[in-house]
Amino acid sequence: MSEDTDSDLDRTSGTPDPSDLLHSQRTIAVDEKLAIEILTNYHQFKGVLEVDEKIEMIQFNLEEDFEGADIALSDIYMLKITYQLPRENSERNLELIVKQLPQDPFARLFVKEALFDVREIKFYTKIVPDMVEFVKDYFSDQPAEKQLPIPKCYYPMDERILIDSTETILILEDLKAHDYYSPNFSKGLHLNQAILALEAIAKIHAISLAIRLSNTINFNDVYPFLFQTEKATDSYQMLLDRGLPLLEQFLEKKTHMTPVLKCILNIRHKMKNVILSLLSPKCPISLLTHTDFWCNNLLFRRDGGHCIILDWQMITYSRPTNDVALLIISSLSSDLRRAHQDRLLSKYWEALTSFSLKMKVNIEGTIGYSFSDLKEDYRKSQLLAILLCIGSVDVALGDSSAEQRLLDALKDLYDDQIFSQKTISQCLEEQKETNSNA
Ligand SMILES: Nc1ncnc2c1ncn2[C@@H]1O[C@H](COP(=O)(O)OP(=O)(O)OP(=O)(O)O)[C@@H](O)[C@H]1O
Ligand SMILES: [Mg+2]
Repeated sequence: MSEDTDSDLDRTSGTPDPSDLLHSQRTIAVDEKLAIEILTNYHQFKGVLEVDEKIEMIQFNLEEDFEGADIALSDIYMLKITYQLPRENSERNLELIVKQLPQDPFARLFVKEALFDVREIKFYTKIVPDMVEFVKDYFSDQPAEKQLPIPKCYYPMDERILIDSTETILILEDLKAHDYYSPNFSKGLHLNQAILALEAIAKIHAISLAIRLSNTINFNDVYPFLFQTEKATDSYQMLLDRGLPLLEQFLEKKTHMTPVLKCILNIRHKMKNVILSLLSPKCPISLLTHTDFWCNNLLFRRDGGHCIILDWQMITYSRPTNDVALLIISSLSSDLRRAHQDRLLSKYWEALTSFSLKMKVNIEGTIGYSFSDLKEDYRKSQLLAILLCIGSVDVALGDSSAEQRLLDALKDLYDDQIFSQKTISQCLEEQKETNSNA
């Protein structure tokens, strides 16, 4: 387990340098020279390149991912390179994704302020190596790189470069060049995709739980870059302040939704504390959550066998049902959600408990957390999930299927008393318990 140090990739403060914003010109962080450096490090690490040997770059092609032109939190480039190693007769090809700070000044400010970029880099450079090291004996039936459902990271970020730099970059294998595809948000996930996604996140949840229990550590101490509850709450609140007026406008003429809207507006002043409570780690099941676990952050393999989770910018020490609820509420059609929510919860529970057992953690027996506790937590996490959907309502607006899905989810949660004073009080009570245990 690697302790984090102050010098690692820290910005001296969370406040961005305003002079960064003056550079409106597009800065592309990766050039041929850096690509050679990355490849050299990688192949030296793999033991196929000697220190005095050089790589020959044959082709270098960097293209912006225009499909993702509306992406706010990063600029994405596709990098294709062809190169040759000395002592090899044939060329090698590599397709990579380069994720760098957005050029848009406001998005850039938002990302730097909440350290989204740094958090994701540290996920790949600090948490992933700890996880890989931890699981190597338990999942030895799978090759090391397949043990975690995440893309391979090619650039282990030479932190010396980054300390002085205003840019941050993350380089991942381009999985779309290898039989993976993005699901369709408008249609929502199929049942099989939802199960694969829940199994994938259950694995990460189980590993982080097993690490926590085996070391009796506090993740916020070991990984101080995790999205801290107060900071995360502020980000959610900012989104909600922006999303609620849009929701009001959207529901204005939908009279059947008037009681739902009224109920949501009634609890408005308590939302911040509810978010704070639900994002706090919850004993005994506190573990690492993705916290932005919706279908646009997933890739599926075309043969139907595997799901990969992207975009670890919001990784948090919280409760697992936050991920389960966000996926089910945001990314499934209403019919599928209504028909299969219970089955999906059971599937998730099966995956979480069996992965945990492989690592010698008996969730029910040892830590005393049962399936009914999970269902109870799921109920509350639905509130956090729908608040995030309201905060990001613009993602759904203009897309009739996604709009209908949001309306159905709001109505179902209202009917199920999720916005009721009783549920709110239960969430707030939990926060008091967490504080008194701290
Ligand atoms: N390793 C990868 N392989 C293939 N495609 C990828 C990879 N990483 C990202 N992408 C593509 O780029 C999109 C955006 O990536 P990601 O979610 O990591 O960036 P982001 O800026 O944080 O996104 P957002 O702000 O929308 O949450 C993904 O939905 C996916 O289509
Ligand atoms: Mg994303």
